[in-house]
Parts: sequence; structure tokens; C-alpha cells
Amino acid sequence: MTAQKVGEGVEHLTTSGQFQIDGNSFDVDNNVWIVGDSSEVVLLDAPHDAEAIKKAVGDRNVVAILCTHSHNDHVNAAPAIAQAFDAPILLNPDDRVVWNLTYPDREPDGEITDGETFTVGGIELRAIHTPGHSPGSTVFYAPDLGTLFSGDTLFNGGPGATGPSYSDFNVIIESLAQKVFTLPGDTIVRTGHGDTTKVGDEASRLEEYRERGY
Ligand SMILES: [Fe+2]
Repeated sequence: MTAQKVGEGVEHLTTSGQFQIDGNSFDVDNNVWIVGDSSEVVLLDAPHDAEAIKKAVGDRNVVAILCTHSHNDHVNAAPAIAQAFDAPILLNPDDRVVWNLTYPDREPDGEITDGETFTVGGIELRAIHTPGHSPGSTVFYAPDLGTLFSGDTLFNGGPGATGPSYSDFNVIIESLAQKVFTLPGDTIVRTGHGDTTKVGDEASRLEEYRERGY
């Protein structure tokens, strides 16, 4: 698949591979979000297919690979991309316990802290630490674009999975209630897997999600 421009400053690519956790493997399709302009970009995750991602970036400068979290299906092409573009892999340090499952001998290149902002191609992205799906899960809010890049913290239809190790349902619900559903309701949510949604559409179902327990 080739990347598609989906909005001002945002391109989308889907890659396919396997998510591996707790001794199980699942076939998955992952969204890659490329944010920036014609000269520089950041990548929201680097899953599965380094060649497809490299092709989508082209000759632009990669300012950073911003990891929404470090389940293998979001970072398994990250070192190859980092090397190809001389770009740092950045991750919230609380996710190192998960990162180390995939990369015991390769550290991320830097840390993402809660509230940190990144500017690329004139677009500001604010990192918001939203633990629950994993301890260091982070979403990235672009106020000028009215867009949230949610990783696996929020999908179209509810919170990300909290069954695997290092996940916690009560924690993800609190992250959503306090840090995501407080954003403007018309914010477009571009997710780690599957369809796009809106903050308001998901926020209106918070009690339903809380009661069903996933
Ligand atoms: Fe995940």
C-alpha cells in the first residue's frame, strides 16, 4: 500500500505483520501516521514494513520516530527507519519494560515526557501520557489540525486492549476520562489500528465502556 494524504499535514500508510505478546501471535494491520510538510516529518510509530515507510517518507528529513508505545507491532521497523534517516526513536520511559521484550539490546534514543511538544513543518504535537494499554502509552495532540494520534489508547469503538501483560483497564479508563475525553469533542482521532473516530463520539460512550470492562 502507498501512503495517502488524509488531511493538512497528515499522511496515512497501513502496514501488516504480527503482534506478539505473552507467547501468542496475532495478524494485525497497523496505521502509520506521517505528520509534517514537504521537507520534514515525524512518524507516529514504525510498524512491520521499513521499505514501505521509507518509500512514503521519500527524501524528506525524519525529525523523530515518536512511539505511541512499544508493543512490537508498533516498533518492529523502528531501528531500520532510525538508521536509514538518522532519526531518533523516542519513547516514554515508563514503556521501557515493554520495549525490552522486543529490544533487550537496543535502547530508544531519547525520552518523551508528558506535556512535551514537538514541532514539525510548522505543526505542533503535544505528547500526553495516557497509561493503561501499556505503562508509557502516549497520545499526540495537534491542536492546529484538530487531530489526536491515539496509538492503541483509543480506537473507534473503545479503549485499547488491556488483557496482555503490563496493561490495566482501570488505568486506561482514567487516562481516557481525564486526559483524552477532555479534548474538544470534534477532535479527529487517528488510531493505531482500524478506523478513525472523534473524541466526542467516544466520550459519549465512556460509561458504556466502563461498565463492559474492556
Ligand atoms: Fe499495542
